[in-house]
Amino acid sequence: MKIAFFGAGQIGSALIKGMLYDKQIPAENIYVKGGHSQTAANLQKELGFQLLTDLNDLSGMDLIIIATNNSSVLPILKSLPQPVLAKKVPIVSVAGGINLFAMMKEVGQEYPIAHAIPNTPVQVGAGVLGISFAKDIDSKVKAFILDSLTPLGAVYEVPEDSLEIVGSIAGCTPAFIAILIESLGDAGVLHGLKRDLAYELVEQMLKGTATLALESKMHPAVLKDGVTSPGGSTIRGVAALEANNFRHALMAAIDATMSE
Ligand SMILES: NC(=O)c1ccc[n+]([C@@H]2O[C@H](COP(=O)([O-])OP(=O)(O)OC[C@H]3O[C@@H](n4cnc5c(N)ncnc54)[C@H](OP(=O)(O)O)[C@@H]3O)[C@@H](O)[C@H]2O)c1
Repeated sequence: MKIAFFGAGQIGSALIKGMLYDKQIPAENIYVKGGHSQTAANLQKELGFQLLTDLNDLSGMDLIIIATNNSSVLPILKSLPQPVLAKKVPIVSVAGGINLFAMMKEVGQEYPIAHAIPNTPVQVGAGVLGISFAKDIDSKVKAFILDSLTPLGAVYEVPEDSLEIVGSIAGCTPAFIAILIESLGDAGVLHGLKRDLAYELVEQMLKGTATLALESKMHPAVLKDGVTSPGGSTIRGVAALEANNFRHALMAAIDATMSE
């Protein structure tokens, strides 16, 4: 399995690390084309992948992932050499703002292409990706793309017009949750815990709560009720969260991430 990447910025580097994370794909099978800065070259020194210098090498790839700024996506598709287009090497773009319709205008209606929105935990194989496919994509190619992305985490096929909200609740939220970890950690420090321990307690709690929710399939309210004994400390904390509009703050934050 050989994978080429365009872009090794925030999400590109996370995807590259994710593909290497479980060591099933050797670093020499990953080819990366960077932009104008040294970002890709610097990451190459750390991870040992190959730098892609000749676009003709793309015809030897099994998958191409485009992880650049929106403005570079269509020029990249336009620049693909004819043998790559003829071979129909599957392409996944993770650029938020360029849809399948625009991409297929460049590579043709028959080209196997997907639009995905990943989140940064892909780098440790624990990501969430929403993905949409070209309407007429061959089912075997689609299965191949889905299978190729599994090292990155959980992959959910959604209609393309749902990708934005998937990106908001799964892609933007790692930033919100990082603030939550920091805030709960500060609260622990305020009450005498060492900072490293406070962060780790919160991180393990988040992991455990998510695992419990995923495995038990319990409604979130039932999970909450299971922690709140009558007259106890947790329900006092819940009341304080409600008084401070915690639910509304989260919903408003997601709403703010959505385009007009
Ligand atoms: N960050 C996230 O969590 C996230 C999640 C889901 C989707 N996305 C989407 O992913 C895209 C990239 O976001 P980002 O946060 O990773 O931005 P970023 O950190 O700015 O990275 C973009 C990278 O693209 C490279 N690039 C630009 N033009 C290129 C070209 N023609 N060929 C090869 N590389 C090129 C740039 O390289 P140079 O700097 O060397 O020019 C830069 O390293 C955006 O469309 C965003 O919507 C991001």
